[in-house]
Amino acid sequence: MTATRRKQATVLTLAAIAATGCAGAQSALDPAGAAAERIADLFWGMTIGSLVIWSAVVALAVYASYARAEVDDRRGQRLIVFGGVVVPTIILAGLLIYGLAMLPPMLAAAPEGSRVIEVTGEQYWWRVRYPTAEGGQVELANELRLAVGEPVTLRLTSRDVIHSFWVPALAGKMDMFPGRVTQLALHPTRAGDFRGVCAELCGDSHALMAFRVAVVPPEELTRWIAAQAAPAQRAQGEELFIASGCGACHTVRGTSARGLIGPDLTHVGSRLSLAAATLPNDRAAFERWLSDTARLKPGVHMPHFAMLPKSDRRALAEYLEALQ
Ligand code: CUA
Repeated sequence: MTATRRKQATVLTLAAIAATGCAGAQSALDPAGAAAERIADLFWGMTIGSLVIWSAVVALAVYASYARAEVDDRRGQRLIVFGGVVVPTIILAGLLIYGLAMLPPMLAAAPEGSRVIEVTGEQYWWRVRYPTAEGGQVELANELRLAVGEPVTLRLTSRDVIHSFWVPALAGKMDMFPGRVTQLALHPTRAGDFRGVCAELCGDSHALMAFRVAVVPPEELTRWIAAQAAPAQRAQGEELFIASGCGACHTVRGTSARGLIGPDLTHVGSRLSLAAATLPNDRAAFERWLSDTARLKPGVHMPHFAMLPKSDRRALAEYLEALQ
């Protein structure tokens, strides 16, 4: 391979890597929500604008280095005032107005009567509460399901430190403060699976605090909420779960486990992921989590259960996986 060929190959590879960063479940440039579409428009508008300005400046610099004409002082001064003050002021003021005009619709609340979902950031997971059809509330964790085309209001808060709620494909970020409620409207425009993250450094496992967002048809969402609101089906292993003390921190609705510190596990086997979207949801992952919590998620509040016999850990993993 010649040096030129090698250079071309490198440029192509870098371009391919850059392009794949634009698509996917966690990309602000592959929008699936009304606010994210505006943000993507702003990004492309700014990018194209800056490319045009950069090209013009480089062209002028090249021209200046070749032009040999004598410029008198007055003309030179006028050029500096016009090109260095007037033009940038007009362009930057235009961009400022364009950007500011975008804020009110992006921060607007969802229409009156929209579904309100409460999300609480905790080290290092997301407590999620959905309203049920009966007027009650059901507590879930680490995933949101939304209906295509249906705007929702998120009421965001935190129980410990400042976190930040961000689903790049759907909308911008919103901080979550202890003792305060912030609001964010989401308006998904197409179905799909998306990924959200915590966008504020909140401790050791800040980078291991993700969640999944499934945008589904409205009927599917109704069915899912009804299923999540139901108590747990009796499964083998419940006695072991209670005897091991898990109920001190976790709730499994329909059993005597009523702890409120950790995630509600009533239907944990049906979730899209485990440990705040850091592990797949299968028996092996439950077993690894029980045996080695602190290594999988440094700084986690849950202690490990490696002191239990391996057969017990396996039985607990089977029980949790069966909580569909
Ligand atoms: Cu929570 Cu970073």
